[in-house]
Amino acid sequence: MDYLSLFKELIHNESGIFFDDSNMSILDSRLRERLRLRKLSDFSEYYNLVKSDKKELEELLDSVTTNLTKFFRNPRQFDSLREIVLPEVIERNKITRKIKIWSAGCSTGEEPYSIAMEVFNALPNINLWNVIIIASDISLKSLMKAKAGYYPKERIENFPDDYLRKYMVEEKEGYKVKEELKSIIRFDYHNLKNDNGERDFDIIFCRNVIIYFDKNEQERIINHFYNCLKKPGYLFLGHSESLFGMNTPFKPKKIGDSFIYIKE
Ligand SMILES: C[S@@+](CC[C@H](N)C(=O)[O-])C[C@H]1O[C@@H](n2cnc3c(N)ncnc32)[C@H](O)[C@@H]1O
Repeated sequence: MDYLSLFKELIHNESGIFFDDSNMSILDSRLRERLRLRKLSDFSEYYNLVKSDKKELEELLDSVTTNLTKFFRNPRQFDSLREIVLPEVIERNKITRKIKIWSAGCSTGEEPYSIAMEVFNALPNINLWNVIIIASDISLKSLMKAKAGYYPKERIENFPDDYLRKYMVEEKEGYKVKEELKSIIRFDYHNLKNDNGERDFDIIFCRNVIIYFDKNEQERIINHFYNCLKKPGYLFLGHSESLFGMNTPFKPKKIGDSFIYIKE
């Protein structure tokens, strides 16, 4: 087997990320970059390093992820969250006063912070509630940025003015997320290949993540999400992701102007 196929198989086994023929050149350039940083000249040497050094494996997986994201990405989904999903969840949980949300594949934090802003807006007495947003990713570099919660001005496009005033503080050439917003988010290093043991979610966001996985892995993760959700529960996927043709009990439902998958 040539070295590219070996790495392709290793990355797929470890993370679910799948390189097909059309994007093997990306894999090749990322690997060359890792070799350069590790001052190695030989791919077999690098393969042995990855196999024996967990840290290097994490760095390799980090280097092959696509971390593109933005605040309020796919605004229609945030409209549905604000206008329909959150009010339903709040009404249903008004006795327990608990809300649990997962942003799986949260990248640099824009997604969980956008969700947190909607939750704060929906719950004026949030201090009487137990709200947790678990924001997880396989990319340590992205998670560090997410935890820092600092975003240069150009990253703040699409941002409603009143949200900016309420939840962000201007700092240097950008904005920093206010501590109160951070207080309901827990950032976790987590590979979707594994089970983090978390259950009883009201809502899961996993947008623009499974698109990088092969069909079997997509189906496995989706059905895992199903088991992690409460009944009823909501799954938000990315714009170009769908469960069409997949063997899963999720039901697609048009909520507002977007399609959301429901466990009912
Ligand atoms: C394109 S970003 C999407 C960010 C955000 N959800 C959004 O829609 O804007 C995809 C993220 O999924 C993460 N990811 C890829 N494979 C993963 C895995 N096996 N486990 C956890 N996160 C993974 C990447 O590190 C990356 O940050």
